[in-house]
Amino acid sequence: MSETISLRSMDSSHVRIGVIGAGFVGGAFVRSLLDPERQVALVDAATTTLEIVGVAVRDLSKPREGIPAALLTDDAVTLVTRDDVDIVVELAGGLEPAKTLIELALRRGATVVTANKALIAEHGTALAQLAHEHEADLLYEAAVAGGIPILRALRSSLAGEKINQVLGIVNGTTNFILSKMTQDNVDYDAALAQAQALGYAEADPTADVEAFDAAAKVQILSSLAIGTALVGESISREGITAVRALDVDFARRSGYVIKLIGVVERAGEHGVSRRTHPALVPIDHPLASVHGAMNAVFVEGARSGPLMWLGQGAGGEATATAVMGDVLLAARNRVSGRHDIPFSVDDRLVSVDVADLSSVFYISLDVIDEPGVLAAVAAVFGRHKISIQSMEQNGLAHDARLNFVTHEARTSDVTATLAELRTLAAVESIGACIRVIGGEA
Ligand code: NDP
Ligand code: HSE
Repeated sequence: MSETISLRSMDSSHVRIGVIGAGFVGGAFVRSLLDPERQVALVDAATTTLEIVGVAVRDLSKPREGIPAALLTDDAVTLVTRDDVDIVVELAGGLEPAKTLIELALRRGATVVTANKALIAEHGTALAQLAHEHEADLLYEAAVAGGIPILRALRSSLAGEKINQVLGIVNGTTNFILSKMTQDNVDYDAALAQAQALGYAEADPTADVEAFDAAAKVQILSSLAIGTALVGESISREGITAVRALDVDFARRSGYVIKLIGVVERAGEHGVSRRTHPALVPIDHPLASVHGAMNAVFVEGARSGPLMWLGQGAGGEATATAVMGDVLLAARNRVSGRHDIPFSVDDRLVSVDVADLSSVFYISLDVIDEPGVLAAVAAVFGRHKISIQSMEQNGLAHDARLNFVTHEARTSDVTATLAELRTLAAVESIGACIRVIGGEA
C-alpha cells in the first residue's frame, strides 16, 4: 500500500482538481469549471478558489474544444498521485484503470468524484471504506440518472425515512426506444436505429438494451435507499430486446405503457428485491408520462409517501451538473476539514429471489386456431394455480393470438406454466411474458 500523505495541512483556501477523461461528461465539466462567467458563483459555492491542474486523456492528438492544451496529459497515474491535487474527478468510465486510479487518489487522502456507475456498483463498498480510512470523500451523484440529484436526496434528505420501494426509469436510451415504439407505432429495430442515429444508443447498444446499465444504477439506488452493499452482487436483469410492437399496442389498448423499470423493494422484514425488467405501467402512474430520453425516480417512503424526481439522465452537460455539485461539496468539505462517513450497510438484508415474488403478468401466445386449444391452454394455467384476470383473442389466418392478463401470481409458477405451454403442440410461440406493475386492475 502506498504511503498516505495528508492533504489536510495544505492550503485549503485553494483547491486543486485533476480530471481523468474529457469525453462527453469530462469535456462538459472542464469547460463549465473554466467558464469565466461562472467563476464568481463557483468560488462562492465552493467557499474557495478552484483550479484544474490537469486533464488526463487517452489520445492527446484529439481536438478538445475549450480545454487548454497545457492542461492535457496522457499520464493519469502521475496526475492522480500528484500531492497537490486535492480532488480527482474520474470521468473515464470502465472498471480499469479507473479503479486503480481512484484507489491511488484515495490512499493519499484526495477526494474522488466519479460518474462511474459500473465501478461503484461493483466496488462501491470497498472504495467508500478506503475513502473513510484515509479521511477522504468518495462522491458519485452523477452515476445514477445523470443530472437528477437523487443520490444526495436519499443519503441526506431521506436519511431518516424508511424507504419501502424505489421504481426508476434510469436508462434514457431504452426509454427513448420504448417511447418511440409507443408514439410512432414502430418496432424495436426501427426505434433502436433512430436512437443510434440521434446519438442516444451506442453502435453496440448491449449495455443499455440488455439493462446492464440500469442494473448498476439499481444497485447504487438500493445501497442508499435500503442499505445493501455495493459488492457487484448480480441482480435480476431483463432487457427490452424482446418487446414487440404488438406488446406495446396491447399495453396501449389496455391502459398501460411499457417501460424498462429498475426496482428496489422491501419484501418482508429483511428481504429486498432488486431487479430491472420491462413492465406494463398504468397510464395514471407518475412514471408513465416520462417520455423520450428522460429519467425519473419514484420513491415510496413509509412516512413521506410517494416522491418523484424527473430530469435528464444522460448527456454531457446535464451529467456534468451533478459532477460539479459533488466537486463543490468536496471543496467545501476540504475547507471545513470534514468528510462524509460511509453509507451504512444493513447486514441483516437478504436478497429475495425473483422466482419467489408475485406479480400480475401479461402473457401473449400464438396458437393454432382449433377447437379445444383455449381449453388446453387454460388448463395449464389452472394446473399451476394461475388465475386469469382477462383474455383476448385475435385471429391470425389459421392461427390465433391469445393475450392473457393474470391475477397476482408467483413468478416460479408462471415460469413453470410457460415451460408446460411450450410442450403443447397447439402453442406455436410464447411472444411475451411481462410484469404489470400496480397490482390488480
Ligand atoms: P466518453 O467515452 O465520452 O469519455 C471518456 C473519456 O475518458 C475520454 O476523454 C477518454 O480519452 C478518457 N479515457 C478513457 N480511458 C482513459 C485512460 N485510461 N486514461 C485517461 N483517459 C482515459 O465517456 P462519457 O463522458 O460518456 O462517460 C464518462 C463516465 O460518465 C462513464 O463512467 C459513464 O458511465 C458516466 N456517465 C456518462 C453519461 C453520459 O451521458 N455520457 C451519463 C452518466 C454517467 P480520449 O478522449 O482520448 O479517448
Ligand atoms: N447510457 C445511459 C442511458 C446514460 O442511456 O441512460 C449513461 O448512464
